Parts: sequence; C-alpha cells; structure tokens
Amino acid sequence: MTKSVFITGATSGFGRAAARRFAEAGWSLVLTGRRRERLEELEGELSDRVAVHVVELDVRDEAAVKQAVDALPQAFSPVQVLINNAGLALAPEPAQEVALEDWHTMIDTNVKGLVNVTHALLPSLIEVGAGASIINVGSTAGKWPYKGSHVYGATKAFVEQFSYNLRCDLHGTGVRVTDIAPGMAETEFTLVRTKGDQAASDQLYNTTTPMTAEDIAEQMFYVATLPAHLNINFLEIQPVRQVWGGMVVDRDE
Ligand SMILES: NC(=O)c1ccc[n+]([C@@H]2O[C@H](COP(=O)([O-])OP(=O)(O)OC[C@H]3O[C@@H](n4cnc5c(N)ncnc54)[C@H](OP(=O)(O)O)[C@@H]3O)[C@@H](O)[C@H]2O)c1
Repeated sequence: MTKSVFITGATSGFGRAAARRFAEAGWSLVLTGRRRERLEELEGELSDRVAVHVVELDVRDEAAVKQAVDALPQAFSPVQVLINNAGLALAPEPAQEVALEDWHTMIDTNVKGLVNVTHALLPSLIEVGAGASIINVGSTAGKWPYKGSHVYGATKAFVEQFSYNLRCDLHGTGVRVTDIAPGMAETEFTLVRTKGDQAASDQLYNTTTPMTAEDIAEQMFYVATLPAHLNINFLEIQPVRQVWGGMVVDRDE
C-alpha cells in the first residue's frame, strides 16, 4: 500500500523540501499551507510522479483543520506520517520592544496550530499503528536561550515537551513521536522574522555555512523510515559553524 505523509507549511523551506524528498521515494503527499499558488506550483512539479492532494490551510483555524482532515480523499488515508512543520518566529527585538500581537501569532501558530493538526490526525495515525510517525519541528531555540528569542523559544520548548508527553500517551499504539530541533538553516524563516528584510536575511546566511532545507528534509525522511520498532525522541542538528553562546555579564563601564 502507498504510504501518505501530511505536511504542514509545505509552501517553503523545510516543508517544501520534505515534500520533494518523500515524493522521490514514492509517497503520496498531502501538502498544506496558506499560499495556494505555491501549493499548486509544487503539485505541478510532483504530481506526475506521485499522488498529491493540496489544501490551502491556516493551522490556526481549528475548524478548517478538522474539515481538511475529515475531507481527505481515501487514497491519502489513513495518514502514515504527520510532519508538524508550519511555524514562524517574529520580532527579533528584545521582549520589552515587541508588539504583543507578534507573541500571540507565534503562540497561535507554533503551539495551538500544531496541536490542532495533531489532534485532528491522531485517529488516522493510530489506525496505521506500527510504523506511523508524528514529526514535530522544534528548534534549538526551545532549549538554548538567546536575546530576541523570548516567545519563539518558549513555543519550541512546548513542542519538545508536548512531543515527549504525546509519546507516553501513544505508548502501545505503535505511533512514534519525534521532535526534530534544527539550528540555523537558510529558508524564508529570517525574511518572515524581519517582516521582509532581505538584506538582513542575506547577511545572516551569506557570511557562514547554514544548513539547507534539504538537510532537514533528509532527517525527516530518515526518522519516518526507520524500522517500526525504533523511535528517535529528539534530534538536535546544527551546522558545524554554529555553537551555543556563552554567559553574558552586565559590567560597569
Ligand atoms: N530555518 C531555521 O533556521 C529554523 C530553525 C529551527 C526551527 N525552524 C522551524 O522550522 C519550521 C519551518 O520553517 P522554515 O525554516 O522552513 O521557514 P519558512 O521557509 O518560512 O517556512 C515556514 C512554513 O510555515 C508555513 N506557515 C506559517 N504560518 C502558517 C500558518 N498559520 N498556517 C499554515 N502554515 C503556516 C508557511 O506557509 P504559508 O506562509 O504559505 O502558510 C511556510 O510553508 C518552523 O516551525 C520553524 O520555526 C526553522
């Protein structure tokens, strides 16, 4: 039977690269995101090789998520792998300078959106049982604090703990749960975070060697295709040229 993967945030970055990686291996794809034209472009690119079902979907819209899952065509159901990838960071400024609305957007997307999709797809994943996987995209920001990470890092800490807790609840069903926590990777992430500052994005990535979207998609594919008796709980991955910052001390002049 053809396996199907449900990807949130398939219009860019990790999600789009994951769609291509799973397509290479012949999986059926359910591709979701808010930008319809991007979804259609990807469908045009991949649908001569594999079955593709696209859904314009904002993960924050609980009713729309439920409807999208309930209306999945039979050929894509049950879903073998869920990749909870949709997410964003906003407002790189210190907390005290940030608009509350940006905090709400991150919580609504990275936390509430992720649980909306997970909740809707749990019955399908449990129906598959052994070999099914939930891959949640966390971040190094969920473990390691830095200036300007405030609510973003906190949402990714939620993703990590939710992944572990889900794993406990799903114990016995065969469904696996993994938190993939990437460090710096070049995608549209910084463009979104800076609200369209291409120069800031270029400066961040062009002066070093960040990971690529394909690097992360490869990890997603690896995790999803491990033998059914194995579960990677947490997979933290960074480019070699990135390490943790040290302690910062406020000193007298
Ligand atoms: N790049 C990094 O350095 C990095 C590091 C660690 C973790 N991450 C995490 O990796 C994930 C993917 O990010 P990326 O780096 O690939 O960035 P990206 O290129 O900006 O892609 C983000 C994706 O999320 C989707 N998305 C955002 N808000 C959404 C919403 N409300 N509903 C549905 N989809 C939504 C976007 O699609 P639409 O705009 O079309 O909806 C887009 O497809 C995120 O969770 C991010 O936090 C990134």
